[in-house]
Amino acid sequence: MIGNLHQLSLQPHHSLRCLSLRYGPLMLLYFGCTPVFIVSSADIAHDVMKTHDLKCANRPKTKVVDKILSGGRDVAFSPYGEYWRQMKSICIQNLLSNKMAPSYEKIREEEIKLMIKKLEKAISSSSPLLVNLSQLLMTLTNDIIYRVALGRKYSDPEDGIDVENIVSTFAAVLGEFPLGEYIPSLSWVDRIRGVDHKLEEVDKRFDDFLERVVKEHEEADKENRSDFVDKLLTIQRDNTGQFKLEKGALKLIIWHMFLAGTATTLSFLEWTMTELIRHPKAMTKLQEEIRSSSQHDSYVTEKQVEKMNYLQAVIKEALWLRPPAPLLLPRVYSEDLRLKGYDIAAGTQVIINAWAIQRDTSTWGIDAEEFRPERHINSDLDFHRQDFKYIPFGSGKRICPGIEFTSALIGVTLANIVKRFNWRMDVEPKSGHDDLTEVSGLVIFRRFPLIAIPSSA
Ligand code: HEM
Repeated sequence: MIGNLHQLSLQPHHSLRCLSLRYGPLMLLYFGCTPVFIVSSADIAHDVMKTHDLKCANRPKTKVVDKILSGGRDVAFSPYGEYWRQMKSICIQNLLSNKMAPSYEKIREEEIKLMIKKLEKAISSSSPLLVNLSQLLMTLTNDIIYRVALGRKYSDPEDGIDVENIVSTFAAVLGEFPLGEYIPSLSWVDRIRGVDHKLEEVDKRFDDFLERVVKEHEEADKENRSDFVDKLLTIQRDNTGQFKLEKGALKLIIWHMFLAGTATTLSFLEWTMTELIRHPKAMTKLQEEIRSSSQHDSYVTEKQVEKMNYLQAVIKEALWLRPPAPLLLPRVYSEDLRLKGYDIAAGTQVIINAWAIQRDTSTWGIDAEEFRPERHINSDLDFHRQDFKYIPFGSGKRICPGIEFTSALIGVTLANIVKRFNWRMDVEPKSGHDDLTEVSGLVIFRRFPLIAIPSSA
């Protein structure tokens, strides 16, 4: 009845890796009654996401997808096909494309400068200053994405809405293991645990928020606005095209862009700063590069960031050692197929353990689990190149469409907080939990916030 569920821990990417070290890079497990095919090597990931990509380009249906994402009418969970193509293309053309990314540079600059100003003010009034860097980075990421996607910030207490709380509640609900998903006869346990109630509650809160955002945009002076929501509303009103964007789907797009953008970007920034503070040599080398190439400027620009080799290596290393979505997003086979000599039935789910693949010592050598940005200097390994050893953004038809959007944001944020301040950790890890404890969901965050001490450089 429970299949292999008892062999999974609260950090499934860890336990699946342990199992793969024992049973091999291709395993068929049962999560309750559901067969799930686990991939833990670059070679098999290539077969799944390249050779047979079309056969597993669908996502499984789950309770969360049914309840919150209207049965998968959003981009990430809709079935592969025309609807998905149209929804994805709307997001790319109006928000995520290479062409759009530079147009938000001013917003990124204003928000990063604001964060630096807040930090400088706080440092001058208290020494030493303890900073909840996780919280600071969350506010920064949210505010930038609010402004880009929704046209303004919603973090002012006067707005009377705590979006940060809605997002973190949603992340927590995603992290809960819904037993009924895999063992339908035990669905009642989820009701008793309150999982169903939490799902409904967070869905309602988010929907109220989105309703308000859409209403504000409908009522605003259209002459002076052209943010992402305005563009979506224009598409919705356009009756000439074949594709009709319904209001429900429009809200799902906004929600998804918001969640996908904030959670992954925040996870990346939080873990990268954690690793840099834990590795003072790498931090010093990075600061030297940034400070010497932007000596006369108080703000490091995105153009300068592109030329910083060590910074680019740090970004690649962090995405490699701590991919924000370690198991990518699940897929499901829509047809029977034969893979590496095994028959796989349609309906089998596929989980690619990118975290394990990127720590595979047979590919990466014995220091595979160390934070060592140097390994990426003069290496042509890149997440755009579809090398299956390195897949933090997934691959194939369902590859993440937010790579350009996020790349523009993470480099310039890191460069500026590391240039302007020196950072050290608050205290040694507290008893019982070390500073690298993770909290799992689709995206991995720190279990405890990153508390650090900044000083002016
Ligand atoms: C460090 C930042 C990010 C990481 C590591 C990341 C990672 C991923 C991964 C692993 C997937 C699943 C790919 C697969 O199934 O093969 C994905 C899908 C997706 N991501 Fe991202 N992502 C990031 C940022 C963003 C941003 C900023 C956005 C949008 C604002 C975004 C939007 C999406 C969407 C819409 C999908 C679903 C694509 C589909 O199913 O067709 N991501 N992302």
